[in-house]
Formats: sequence, C-alpha cells, structure tokens
Amino acid sequence: MGLSIALVGCGAMGSALLKGWLTLPDTKERFANFWVIVPHREKVEPFLKDPRIGWISSPEQLSQTPDVILFAVKPYHLAEILPQYKTFETLFISVASGKPLSFYETYLSPSSVFVRAMPNTPLSVHQGTIAFLSKVSLDPQNKQMVENCFRGMGFFFWVNSDDDLDKVTALTGSGPAYVFYMIESFAQAAEALGFSKEISLQMAISTFEGASIYVQQSGQSPKSLRAQVTSPQGTTAEAIKVLERGDLYHLMEEAVKAAYKRAKELAHEG
Ligand SMILES: NC(=O)c1ccc[n+]([C@@H]2O[C@H](COP(=O)([O-])OP(=O)(O)OC[C@H]3O[C@@H](n4cnc5c(N)ncnc54)[C@H](OP(=O)(O)O)[C@@H]3O)[C@@H](O)[C@H]2O)c1
Repeated sequence: MGLSIALVGCGAMGSALLKGWLTLPDTKERFANFWVIVPHREKVEPFLKDPRIGWISSPEQLSQTPDVILFAVKPYHLAEILPQYKTFETLFISVASGKPLSFYETYLSPSSVFVRAMPNTPLSVHQGTIAFLSKVSLDPQNKQMVENCFRGMGFFFWVNSDDDLDKVTALTGSGPAYVFYMIESFAQAAEALGFSKEISLQMAISTFEGASIYVQQSGQSPKSLRAQVTSPQGTTAEAIKVLERGDLYHLMEEAVKAAYKRAKELAHEG
C-alpha cells in the first residue's frame, strides 16, 4: 500500500515536490494519494488531473490521518499554521528554512515524529540535493518512510544538528539560484557578443550541464579539469585572469556565509 501525503503549501517548493513525486517511475506503487492543503485552489489546479491528488483548504477536511504531513510554507507562516496540526499523530516533515527542531516541538503532539528536511527545487526533475535532521535517531520504519518520500529525487543525506541544516540551506537549498545567476550572466555575455537570446541561453545551459556531468564522471577534481583546458597564454587563461581579479572564490564564500547568517536570523522571526 502506497503512502498518503498531506502537502501544506504549494508554491515554488511544494509544486517542485509534487512534480518530482508524480514523475517517479514507481510513483503509482509508492504514493497512494496526496492532499494539498493551501488556501486557494489555483496553485493546485494543474495537478488535479492526477486522480490521486485532492485540494483542501484546511486540515479539518482530511478524511484520515496521512502517513506524512509535509510543510512547504514560509517560515513566518508556521506559527499560525502549526497549531492546526496539534491533534495529528503521524510523521511530520518540514522543509522550511531556519526554524530549529525545538520550534516545532512547542506546536506538535509529543507522540508525533518530526524531521526537518532541506531540499532544493531541482528535485522536481529528480536532480535534487536533500538533507534530513531528526532530534533522536529515528526508528528504522520512520527513517525508511522519510527516505521513501525522497528516494529517486536526487542525492540525500542526514545531518546531526540544526546548525548543519542551516549550512546546507545556504549551500544546496539556495545553491540552485547561484547557478541560475551564473547561467544568466553567461547567457548575457553570449548575447553581448551578438548571439540570439535563445542560442545564448542554450549555450549557457549546455556548458554548465556538460561541465557538471564531466566533472562527476571523470573522477578528477574541478581544479585539475580547469588546469587541463587552461593553456598558458591561451583564451581560457585570459578569461580566468578576469574572474580571479573579481576574486570569485571569495565572492562565493561571502555569498554562502550571508545566506547562512540569514538562515540563523529566520529562527527568531515570525
Ligand atoms: N524555494 C526554494 O528553493 C526552497 C528551497 C529550500 C527550502 N525552501 C523552503 O520551502 C518553504 C516554502 O518556500 P517556497 O519558495 O515554496 O514559498 P512560496 O512559493 O511562497 O510558497 C508558499 C506556499 O505556502 C502557501 N500558504 C500560505 N499560507 C498558507 C496556509 N495558511 N496554509 C497552507 N499553505 C499556505 C502559499 O499559498 P498562497 O500562494 O495561496 O498564499 C504557497 O503555496 C519555505 O519555508 C522555504 O524556506 C524553499
């Protein structure tokens, strides 16, 4: 019998999760049904053609307790939303940034099991990175249920503290946006050299995609692959000099630290 999941929130992350779940090769065996709990129906509309999906506007409309209730809402909405789930005894997962495990304990039933997760949107195409955190080590059945929700959606791993999860938030949670930004800037550089918008974007995407797959499959470090294509006095060397003048290493470190600091601040907001 497949899992029943209640998904609370269907914005960027909630809909990425749904797309990922619905397109897994074994989706029909793995997932029996989904309730999407959001105030308005429009966001869920595109998914409703799948008979396993139902829209409800509040948890009171749930006809049974789901195997998993997953929160994909903004951290500042949690204090208003969580009390509505106090009577449910089930496995809860929250993908919200910043709020520590202790925050959820004050709202949810003590007999529930709670897991924080930090996914990213590429899981919608099964290329995500997902980290999990639970307070105590989970019993094998619950651990398996958590992993069952995400298996096949990308690379996943467990971390040991809220602090680690905040670091993951700054790295892989926000990370796709850093890469989208780089793809954007690469495409803009191609357009500045006179290529069409369409070809420029395609060149940017295939260069990032090709380089990522190559670094993964070659078994070599990105640094050594970079050295192999950077001959002294060549074209690449000229470009790398410009990137080094901008201190890309330092810039990325500062960006990730800023996101990590923001994740810490979110713990105390809302
Ligand atoms: N986006 C990412 O890349 C990413 C990555 C990792 C983690 N996260 C985490 O995922 C969470 C959601 O982020 P997001 O980017 O998906 O935000 P979002 O696009 O703003 O989506 C939030 C969703 O919550 C719904 N919502 C608002 N009030 C609600 C309520 N009372 N009950 C049920 N649903 C309610 C919204 O519905 P309406 O639109 O109808 O208001 C919307 O569907 C955040 O906590 C974020 O930290 C996001």
